Amino acid sequence: MAWISEDRRQALVRDGKPLLTDDMKKTLEEKYFPRYPTKRAVLLPALHLVQHEYNWIPPQAIEEIAQFLEIAPAEALDTASFYEEYWLKPKGKYLLQVCRSLTCEICGSEKLREHLQSRLNIDVGETTPDKRFTLVELECLGACGSAPVMLVNEVLYENIASTDQLDQILDRLPDDPHDFKDPNITWEQDGSHSG
Ligand code: FES
Repeated sequence: MAWISEDRRQALVRDGKPLLTDDMKKTLEEKYFPRYPTKRAVLLPALHLVQHEYNWIPPQAIEEIAQFLEIAPAEALDTASFYEEYWLKPKGKYLLQVCRSLTCEICGSEKLREHLQSRLNIDVGETTPDKRFTLVELECLGACGSAPVMLVNEVLYENIASTDQLDQILDRLPDDPHDFKDPNITWEQDGSHSG
């Protein structure tokens, strides 16, 4: 019996526009290709670029990245699934990552985590029904000197001394995470902040 094989790299499922846009390809070609010895070595930046745009990495994007870098989709998926930083399922607009390692724990990270669970009415690993927040815990971020700390997407908040400060952080987040920049908050004595 003859086996019928299929080149899945050519059999992309595209409902709508490509997820790896021309602008993204241009960025990869102009900014990253010159830095790396091979196209496949650009896989991590490509995954990061897609996740930054869509907040997660859809299967269609995995296939498009693989095709663009001329590697097998399985290789792209293997790499993406190896690193916890890459999300292969949708998450909230804002990923709240509370450090749970020893120094932060001693400095009150558990209280912060419990406050977030209570305020958002979700458990660790869950996403709010409006898809605004996903809450996770993670290990030491290397910022023990300013514990307790929390990452909001890619912004590190340090010295979160109270649940009031935590509320202020959440209240200041813009609706569109693309408008979210490092707020450079300076905490004031009374718990209010500037910046
Ligand atoms: S223990 Fe939290 S940053 Fe090190």
